[in-house]
Amino acid sequence: MTAGDGAPRHETIFTMEATPIKFGPGASADTGWELKRLGAQRVMVVSDPGVIKTGITDKVRERIEAEGIETVLFDQVHVEPTAESLQAAADFAVDGKFDGFVGIGGGSSMDTAKVADLVSTHPAEIMDYVNPPVGGGRKPSSPLKPLVMVPTTAGTGSEATSVAVLDVPDQKVKTGISHRYLRPHQGIVDPDLTRSLPQAVTASCGLDVVCHAAESFISRPYDTRDRPESPDDRPPYQGANPISDLWSATALELGGRYLRRAVEDPDDVEARGFMMLGASLAGVGFGSAGVHIPHACSYPIAAIKHEYKPDGYEVDEPLTPHGYSVIVTAPAAFRFTYEGDRDKHHKVAELLTGEPVQDGDENTLPDVLVDLMKDVGAPSGVRELGYDEDEIDDIVDGAMKQQRLLVIAPTEAGPNELAGIVRGSMDNW
Ligand SMILES: [Fe+2]
Repeated sequence: MTAGDGAPRHETIFTMEATPIKFGPGASADTGWELKRLGAQRVMVVSDPGVIKTGITDKVRERIEAEGIETVLFDQVHVEPTAESLQAAADFAVDGKFDGFVGIGGGSSMDTAKVADLVSTHPAEIMDYVNPPVGGGRKPSSPLKPLVMVPTTAGTGSEATSVAVLDVPDQKVKTGISHRYLRPHQGIVDPDLTRSLPQAVTASCGLDVVCHAAESFISRPYDTRDRPESPDDRPPYQGANPISDLWSATALELGGRYLRRAVEDPDDVEARGFMMLGASLAGVGFGSAGVHIPHACSYPIAAIKHEYKPDGYEVDEPLTPHGYSVIVTAPAAFRFTYEGDRDKHHKVAELLTGEPVQDGDENTLPDVLVDLMKDVGAPSGVRELGYDEDEIDDIVDGAMKQQRLLVIAPTEAGPNELAGIVRGSMDNW
């Protein structure tokens, strides 16, 4: 849109939305009560085999049934959902005639529950809903059925966002379905549920939280975007705004203060609790502002090669944990974006360390992130995840497909800039 004189008219509006969150040790016992409050009588419980094995899913189901609500378990969640695995969940949801949905687990379970609810409320093919240009970008015409999330890791923040992420293997791309109606009606964050997590999972998920918050805080301000033609075209990822900054800043503070402790001692319930809270706060922050370069690079890094075997993850096949695939390019990405807003880069370093930055430069924040990575046992860079210099172009091609994310980077990153960032991320130390 232009102002009539040919000059683009800048966005003047941002929106604030946040999932109601119930937080604290024991909170998951209220899951049934919350579903009843929302009017559900027959719910689809979506969980993955790993979480089911811990007994958490059954415990929560019992609390739901104690309120007189019928539950049916869907246990076929794919870790890193695909269009196909989501379609299976959606078919199950349509056949089951449910009037409520519960996701119990990490991002994969929660995102699968979101899509099951979406398709059950407004039946259509999964690909119709996927973000363009990969899918049709269809928008649901009215709010979804009651949707309650019970996260069991402190990471994705999916309980607080309006996005479900999925792999589309035949197009070799990871993308999402995003719409405000995918934002859950209630998140239930219970630190007692993360006690059984291996240290490496805590580390990877916690680094994801730190990146969500840092990328959102250092994203392009919302009022530098062009104003959309209609409210319908306003993107879920709006760019940094005064409200998203509050959420992101607090998440950074919590990440800096508690991530090392949560990784070191699985019984440090205080640290784990604050990391879970940080994940939800960061979810609200990035659900509003958005994430950009490290997340755009993380998708091809996780998708192209499957060679990395993370210590401490109980998986049969190699797997690149999401948080690791994100954090490896974060130092170089923030070195690149430094000139976009120096003060905000310094501020992120201050929030993470709890100490004022004096004479900061482009290496200040990258150094803080590298220290954190070393302390929690993260891989040293893209090379450790199985890549060498010959494969930089493939990663860049994949990252360039994430325009939805790249447009909110504070400094414009094209193929050459991204190649420089990936090259600079091969070995962070
Ligand atoms: Fe993430």
